[in-house]
Amino acid sequence: QEQSKKQFTDGMELITKFYHYLLGSAKFGTAGMNYLKERDFNSEMIDRFRIGYAVNSWDAVTSLLQRRNVSMEQMEKAGLIAKRGFDHKYFDRFRNRIIFPIFNMRGQTVAFGGRTLGEEKPKYLNTPESQIFHKGKILYGYHLARQSIRKSNQVVLLEGYVDVVRAHQIGVTHSVASMGTSLTEDQAAALSRMADTIIICYDSDLAGIEASFRAAGMLQGDGKVVKIAKMPEGYDPDDYIRKFGGERFKSDVIGASQTLMTFKMGYFRRKRNLSDEGDRLLYIEDILKEIVTLKRAVERDHYLRLLAEEFSISLDALKRQETQLYKASK
Ligand code: GTP
Ligand code: MN
Ligand code: MN
Ligand code: MN
Ligand code: MN
Repeated sequence: QEQSKKQFTDGMELITKFYHYLLGSAKFGTAGMNYLKERDFNSEMIDRFRIGYAVNSWDAVTSLLQRRNVSMEQMEKAGLIAKRGFDHKYFDRFRNRIIFPIFNMRGQTVAFGGRTLGEEKPKYLNTPESQIFHKGKILYGYHLARQSIRKSNQVVLLEGYVDVVRAHQIGVTHSVASMGTSLTEDQAAALSRMADTIIICYDSDLAGIEASFRAAGMLQGDGKVVKIAKMPEGYDPDDYIRKFGGERFKSDVIGASQTLMTFKMGYFRRKRNLSDEGDRLLYIEDILKEIVTLKRAVERDHYLRLLAEEFSISLDALKRQETQLYKASK
């Protein structure tokens, strides 16, 4: 068991080095390197995240593993190679892709994500879950973000590998990614242990916005400040930084992040026409329904007051309606 774990870690390390070497090689890595340079990734980040390139070949990794006497069964389970049906020969699963090693807390590679250089599907190919890799327990980039998270007592949650690398490149080094929009309970628990302030900065598309609400709900708890960062529609952090620069990202996105309720108020407001009385009542109801879900009484009270002030309605009336909704939700 222990020995097989060690073999696995050694195999993954060998492959990480191999892909990274290929990317840097003038002979093999040009396509991958051009792609990354085109996207403005600097070599410091390529090294720090140990980014690699899988050449367009069926047996580059396969023959490396054979030469080095690595267990083929184990690497097949780890998803790096697969067996052909007709002659049971192994072949490489990653071909012509940019390779992102996925690290555990100690910085050891436990999985890989591979991105196509073009528009082919799937855009990202990931190695499967294994005894050593539980995707739902990992936050991408954590071992590189840990110090900065501690120091700032803040953690920034992003969606993708590329977003994390880009954020680190501009100095937002307390960033990690959930690798997609479905934050797991394990990831949420880990984030809560890391810092008192959690800033969610998912892609600004419908999936990302809805996932931010969900994630914020999971993260909200005693003593935690959960904020949502907003970008113009259609942008993700990587797109935003490339277009507007790192300083604008720090001040106008991360710096301007809002608590969940404030964010939702803005979101609902845009859906309604507040100069229309009927819409105004619907908006107030939208918000009351949200207030009801808040765990802490002080928080509920705070937002009821805001709402009462904004629409010049009596706080008493709002409180009565909130109590009704609260009872109905039980
Ligand atoms: P770029 O298009 O290269 O900028 O990547 P992105 O990070 O913007 O991609 P996207 O917003 O579509 O996805 C965010 C994250 O979800 C990725 O970094 C992956 O971790 C994951 N993901 C996206 N697409 C796929 C897919 O097709 N398969 C798998 N397994 N994961 C995916
Ligand atoms: Mn290097
Ligand atoms: Mn996305
Ligand atoms: Mn994205
Ligand atoms: Mn992107």
